[in-house]
Amino acid sequence: AIDINKLRDLSGAITLDRGYKNSGSCLSEITFLDGEEGILRYRGYSIEELAEKAHFLEVSYLLIFGELPTAEQLKQYETDIRKYTLVNEEMKNIIDGFPKTAHPMGVLSALTSALTAFNPKAVNPDNPKELYESVCKIMGKFLVIATWTYRKTMGYPLNYYDNTKGYVENFMNLMFHLPTEPYTANPIIVDALDKLFILHADHEQNCSTSTVRMVGSSHAGLFASISAGASALWGPLHGGANQAVLEMLEEIHANGGDTDKYLAKAKDKEDPFRLMGFGHRVYKNFDPRAKIIKKAADEVLNTLGVDDPILEIAKKLEAAALVDEYFVSRKLYPNVDFYSGIIYRALGIPTDMFTVMFAIGRLPGWIAQWKEMRINKEPIGRPRQIYTGHTLRGFVPVDKR
Ligand code: ACO
Repeated sequence: AIDINKLRDLSGAITLDRGYKNSGSCLSEITFLDGEEGILRYRGYSIEELAEKAHFLEVSYLLIFGELPTAEQLKQYETDIRKYTLVNEEMKNIIDGFPKTAHPMGVLSALTSALTAFNPKAVNPDNPKELYESVCKIMGKFLVIATWTYRKTMGYPLNYYDNTKGYVENFMNLMFHLPTEPYTANPIIVDALDKLFILHADHEQNCSTSTVRMVGSSHAGLFASISAGASALWGPLHGGANQAVLEMLEEIHANGGDTDKYLAKAKDKEDPFRLMGFGHRVYKNFDPRAKIIKKAADEVLNTLGVDDPILEIAKKLEAAALVDEYFVSRKLYPNVDFYSGIIYRALGIPTDMFTVMFAIGRLPGWIAQWKEMRINKEPIGRPRQIYTGHTLRGFVPVDKR
């Protein structure tokens, strides 16, 4: 019999770091983040410069392949992604099986996993051609199925990728083009979305990315690992925060806009309420993405002529929290999700699609991290624990309990 006490003795020194607050899990060349200084760089390029000057597909190439593409490489990459935007027709039967009320993130994760059924060959990460093909496949198909999750909830017919349009413009088209009406995406919206996707594209070892790496470390395939990442992103403490922020702002608005009351609730340790969109595991001074996004939110709302009381509540909340001792002493500042929801709302994206938007943006990061993890031949992820349960005890038959 195994003596659990012996096992305890044999387990040696284990570092307990709940939530991995101070544990590095890998070496990585992809994203540099300095939480104290509020610095975020992809492959050495500042997030500010990329958001201003680059396009999302260019950034995805940079993250995944390590360098900015030449004009020729970018053109080829776009063509190759386009080639793979057709999704197997059988996938539509799977979508039909979901109730209309299903949350789009659950459907997205399930459909991404279902892609493995139609692409059963596991990609060999050491074969650049195979890897490139799989990257283009998931970049193409994920965008299409992400929009299908919305079409499903709306009861609209599913759309196909339009080869005459760019990637982000296609997102709008896939979402909103109805067969009965002509549709042209507003270029201001397309630009704003492009920027938002760039800001979300990678964030080193966050919860969903660590999930992708962890699942992939068992040599599960790329699509299965991405599907797991989408599930991790769904939670309100991570990607689901953008939906939670908007729901919170709407609730404050519906209750008369009393931001002080909600600030007090957030500070009350007896109340589980947290100010959604505030605080970050790593950024302890400001989130550089929030700065860019706040400016973009103002620009988008001004250009589209949207006068949104929700934005006013957000600004009031932010201003009050910034001088509140509770938030200042704990270094709780607005994160990227505090403002992204406001932009999505102005763009006509429904609230329960917000986290799907995050997933589309984060996809290149997940791919890049999965690729790096496999190419670096990282060992299987397998943390230890400190056992705190019972010592050995005898089994009691059911009729004696
Ligand atoms: N509102 C009120 N209090 C908060 C908040 C908040 N939003 N965030 C943290 N705190 C408090 C905690 O209660 C804790 O207080 P204590 O020291 O008195 O016990 C202290 O600040 C530290 O908080 P932790 O939970 O230990 O910080 P952690 O790094 O584990 O959590 C997290 C970070 C999950 C982002 C947290 O700040 C939070 O829940 N924020 C709201 C959800 C959110 O916006 N998530 C999006 C994250 S960004 C992203 O995924 C893109």
